[in-house]
Amino acid sequence: MSKIKSRRSGANIMARLVLLLGSLAYVMILAVINGSLGFICAMGVTVFGAVGVVKALGEVVAMSYPLIIGLTVGCGVLRGVLRYFEQYGNHFIAFKLLAVLRDKIFGALRTLCPAKLESKQKGSIIAMITSDIETLEVFYAHTVSPVCIAVIVSAAVFLFVGFVSSWYLALAALVAYIAIGIIVPLVSSGRLKESGVNYRAEFASFNAYFLDSIKGIKEIVLNNAGSMRETEVNRRSDILLKETKKMKHNTVRAAAATELTVSLFIILTLVIGIVLVHFDMLSAGRMIIGVVAVFGSFGPVIAVSALPGNLTQTFASGDRVLNLLAETPAVTEVKNGENIEYENLSVSDLSFSYDGNAEVLSDIKMHAEKGEIIGIVGESGCGKSTFLKLLLRFWQKGSGTIAYNGTDVDGINSGNLLDNVTMVSQSTYLFDESIEDNLKIAKPDATQEEMENACRLASVHDFIMTLPEGYKTSAGALGDNLSAGEKQRIGLARAFLKAAELILLDEPTSNVDSINEGIILKTLKEQKSRKSIILVSHRESTMAIADRIYKVENGRMAEVTE
Ligand SMILES: Nc1ncnc2c1ncn2[C@@H]1O[C@H](COP(=O)(O)OP(=O)(O)OP(=O)(O)O)[C@@H](O)[C@H]1O
Ligand SMILES: [Mg+2]
Repeated sequence: MSKIKSRRSGANIMARLVLLLGSLAYVMILAVINGSLGFICAMGVTVFGAVGVVKALGEVVAMSYPLIIGLTVGCGVLRGVLRYFEQYGNHFIAFKLLAVLRDKIFGALRTLCPAKLESKQKGSIIAMITSDIETLEVFYAHTVSPVCIAVIVSAAVFLFVGFVSSWYLALAALVAYIAIGIIVPLVSSGRLKESGVNYRAEFASFNAYFLDSIKGIKEIVLNNAGSMRETEVNRRSDILLKETKKMKHNTVRAAAATELTVSLFIILTLVIGIVLVHFDMLSAGRMIIGVVAVFGSFGPVIAVSALPGNLTQTFASGDRVLNLLAETPAVTEVKNGENIEYENLSVSDLSFSYDGNAEVLSDIKMHAEKGEIIGIVGESGCGKSTFLKLLLRFWQKGSGTIAYNGTDVDGINSGNLLDNVTMVSQSTYLFDESIEDNLKIAKPDATQEEMENACRLASVHDFIMTLPEGYKTSAGALGDNLSAGEKQRIGLARAFLKAAELILLDEPTSNVDSINEGIILKTLKEQKSRKSIILVSHRESTMAIADRIYKVENGRMAEVTE
């Protein structure tokens, strides 16, 4: 998880995240003002209380008791109200931003899809949508404003103590704020950061290993590798436990260091106060007010000192999210291009490589007309599926042209292209929804009749009728019980339902028995008069229906002529 080094500095990430606030910034300013005033009111309760005590001790105070009591109570009530508005503002921002960020991430995923997502681990995308976003929520709701509030409140107390009590006390307070809010966290952050990063890396790796073991439990049992796996799980869990202990130890140490510093400065302030009174540089009353004000003012800086542990995580999350938002898609959506109605396909001089170096396909030439079934054969890994993906513009082709009705694929509106061309890929994914909904993804307004018809063509209708609830049966409830062939035929039914004019079939019959293959091939023959079908298959029986066959070899594609 921590393998990818951050390219941005912490300050850079923070600035970018704050920039994402946009027009919400004013809410945050309000929240900071409310938070600062709230803290000051909280201190007002103790300070006015102290003023009352000082007056009772006989010092001259230009305030009546009712006023002092009124101010104390008023501060207490106001504190609650202000705190409410501060929290409200912060969470308002946080949740608004969560929505905005999620929207941005989904937007980015959509443009990166499908090409770049193929190479991304699904786990890391899920982690981004869930935990990274939550971490950022903490940043917006509980990080930015505490820092601002600490600065404002500390400055206010410094001035108040200076003017009302003594500048010596004020100075002591200032040194305390810097020590607690900046120096102590800086000293402990190095160790905290390291143990935090180690802990999260171990945690992620343990999770991944455990999940992988569950997914592969069949292979483990088959190979009698259970005890070996168990030993490894135990070893990793011991490491995780050690890292957890280390991290907790460091967290506790950092918290203890903060508390200790606060206590030391409280004693120091008190000593300074007593010395000032002793040498008649300050009245006892003003000393009490000043000292009480300083004692009550550490809350905001303590809150800041608790941040660094969170911040490293925030930076890591922020960096991942910003990286995703900055990633350039492999293919850009065409919106202002042409719309076509498929008639023919003509490919010439087409070359493509995934990594920009080794060409998977080079100088490909082929064509297809309506009424034709085109076969593509070639060894495993030669680039057949890649070719089909290029026809759909899932990847950006290198050089050459892929022309539909004479228009290059890069100039055809993306939505329109997918209306004209459909593909049944090597593995069909079924959503955790009813069979009906799984089919209707190809045509949301399909009637029951259309749907059943498509399933008959794909030779899967009879099977669906044997299910407990027919078309309403949940594919998720069937889980892995659907055979590969049944899934494949549902995939085919989707393609027939979509009624695109060019159908790309990647090994459509690889998992189907010969009776069902016969039905599917018959369907394809019937369909071809109005369509083009491009068929990739290793099976000779399937290839037999092709009108023309191309063979892919060493990146080249040549028409097979007998
Ligand atoms: N997303 C990708 N990134 C990088 N390389 C890829 C990617 N997808 C496929 N390849 C590589 O491109 C080559 C062609 O793969 P492709 O899936 O097109 O082969 P294929 O002819 O369909 O094979 P099969 O008959 O086994 O399905 C392979 O070497 C494969 O490893
Ligand atoms: Mg393939």
